[in-house]
Amino acid sequence: MKHVFLMICLMLALSIQVQAAEDNREAVSRTPAEKAFILGEMRKFLEALQSINDSLSRHDLASVSEAAEARGRTRNSPPPGMLPSLKAKETDTWRQWAQNVRIGFDTIAASAKSGEPIERQLALTRDILQSCTACHATYRIELEP
Ligand code: HEC
Repeated sequence: MKHVFLMICLMLALSIQVQAAEDNREAVSRTPAEKAFILGEMRKFLEALQSINDSLSRHDLASVSEAAEARGRTRNSPPPGMLPSLKAKETDTWRQWAQNVRIGFDTIAASAKSGEPIERQLALTRDILQSCTACHATYRIELEP
């Protein structure tokens, strides 16, 4: 009897854990090729932020500008390799956050080029990161059936 009780307790504890790990983000459907493209862009975003952070720490504004410009909207409208099918699938909110990121990179590049203080580029980086994290908290990609 004691064992049965312990088993029930264990099962309850496990089910609570499973519930806590539930993913409540909105699922957006993409084909494997679209997903691969999106994730590739994402990794480039992260690399750019790494590079910008590194260059800022060395007060190397030319490199800040270069890394930021490479991910900005001017050089990426559309981003090379962009799949035509993707645009129609983007919600307004998705597009807004993606645009904030692209425009943010262009703004960092312009700021570094005109020699504004590093605090300004740090604040712009913070703004970009807010769009990264907002989108990540909202969406997850699921493969199109
Ligand atoms: C418009 C929405 C959106 C924006 C903006 C966005 N992401 Fe993402 N990102 C996603 C989604 C969706 C995933 C996949 C999450 C999932 O399916 O669990 C993802 C995945 C990633 C990954 C994982 C890549 C991999 O290979 O698995 C990285 C790294 C990443 N994002 C970095 C960033 C950075 C850095 C920024 C900001 C500069 C950013 N993202 C902005 C939506 C976004």
